[in-house]
Amino acid sequence: MGRKFFVGGNWKCNGTTEEVKKIITVLNDAHVPSGDVVDVVVSPPFVFLPLVLSLLRSDFHVAAQNCWVRKGGAFTGEVSAEMLANLGVPWVIIGHSERRLILNESSAFIGDKVAYALSQGLKVIACVGETLEQRESGSTIDVVSAQTKAIADKISSWDNVVLAYEPVWAIGTGKVATPAQAQEVHAELRKWLHNNVSAEVAESVRIIYGGSVNGSNCKELAGQPDLDGFLVGGASLKPEFVDIINSAL
Ligand code: G3P
Repeated sequence: MGRKFFVGGNWKCNGTTEEVKKIITVLNDAHVPSGDVVDVVVSPPFVFLPLVLSLLRSDFHVAAQNCWVRKGGAFTGEVSAEMLANLGVPWVIIGHSERRLILNESSAFIGDKVAYALSQGLKVIACVGETLEQRESGSTIDVVSAQTKAIADKISSWDNVVLAYEPVWAIGTGKVATPAQAQEVHAELRKWLHNNVSAEVAESVRIIYGGSVNGSNCKELAGQPDLDGFLVGGASLKPEFVDIINSAL
């Protein structure tokens, strides 16, 4: 069986209650392929999770943008994986480059987070990606492989993991990876999983692309054989997110 297309909308640190309600109305009214064809997951900031959970159509799902690395307790300002599970949030994004680079989260820390979130029953969108400097120095594959290894080292099953390749130079820049650039890295990641985890995992894990995806460039990207969907930032706050969901067809 083929890999089901996956479209995530990462709202990042954006939105007011009114804006969230407007986005949800657009999504709830949208004509999209059935849940058998595409998984749609929207990721609002923590404070809007209950609102989104209460309003969003039942065939779309919700992700948090982060969670704490172990059991909750005396960790001021953090939100634990068990709290998300308790709230009924099924997914969490871990290892986004904004957290790696701005908040100095290391690959080892991200590996621990992925493992703990999975242990609490959450499904994880785990992000990897190289900076422009790393790409220009020819180390893209080494970088994303090392980031993936740091996750693989800590987990025993990939069943509930979606891997998101998000080149840092493409995020929020309008400079989308070409379909060939994205395909090359996705194929290498799949090869890494084949050689280092298992043939079954390599075949079944969805590898999605993020970085300046919009309603106009999604279709061509979606046609790449190793590209199984998208993690969308800016465009996920706009009606064109619906066009991106429909690129699954
Ligand atoms: O997680 C999604 C992301 O980082 C891509 O953002 O705004 O370039 O689509 P954007």
